[in-house]
Amino acid sequence: MSKVNVIYWSGTGHTEKMAEAVVRGAEKEGAEVKLIQVASATEDDVKGVDRIAFGCPAMGAEELEETEMRPFMDKVNSLLAGKNVALFGSYEWADGEWMKLWQEEVENTGAKLVDDGLIAYDDPNEEAIEDCESLGKELARS
Ligand SMILES: Cc1cc2nc3c(=O)[nH]c(=O)nc-3n(C[C@H](O)[C@H](O)[C@H](O)COP(=O)(O)O)c2cc1C
Repeated sequence: MSKVNVIYWSGTGHTEKMAEAVVRGAEKEGAEVKLIQVASATEDDVKGVDRIAFGCPAMGAEELEETEMRPFMDKVNSLLAGKNVALFGSYEWADGEWMKLWQEEVENTGAKLVDDGLIAYDDPNEEAIEDCESLGKELARS
């Protein structure tokens, strides 16, 4: 059975809803899935699996959240080579630039992105939630 960890930060719950949908999708493919808030995630949560989804909304000025998510990515980027990774997050003010930058950053680690980073406007609607489930399925199958 494939193991998937979903590690995320969410301030107002939008990215959390996306994370929960990614989990559902991966579970539908039979994966053993753990949902982990980045505040309690450790390097072992990355080292121990070959399939990981990271979620974080656009914060700062088109950046990752700076007190928990950014430091965590800085710590684990060097562990991602060869792993299958999915990225997702919510945004509101701009057009998704933060996700393009994040995607580039993760691609440069040698990780394999299973799909383009998935972005959802504000509180994710039904279609966005379905896309998150599909992303979870794709990650579990990868
Ligand atoms: C401090 C702060 C900075 C933000 N910066 C951006 C930004 O640069 N670009 C953008 O599109 N949205 C930005 N937003 C909007 C959030 O990305 C948006 O509200 C998102 O839905 C929050 O997701 P969450 O509920 O998972 O925290 C910002 C929001 C806050 C509170």
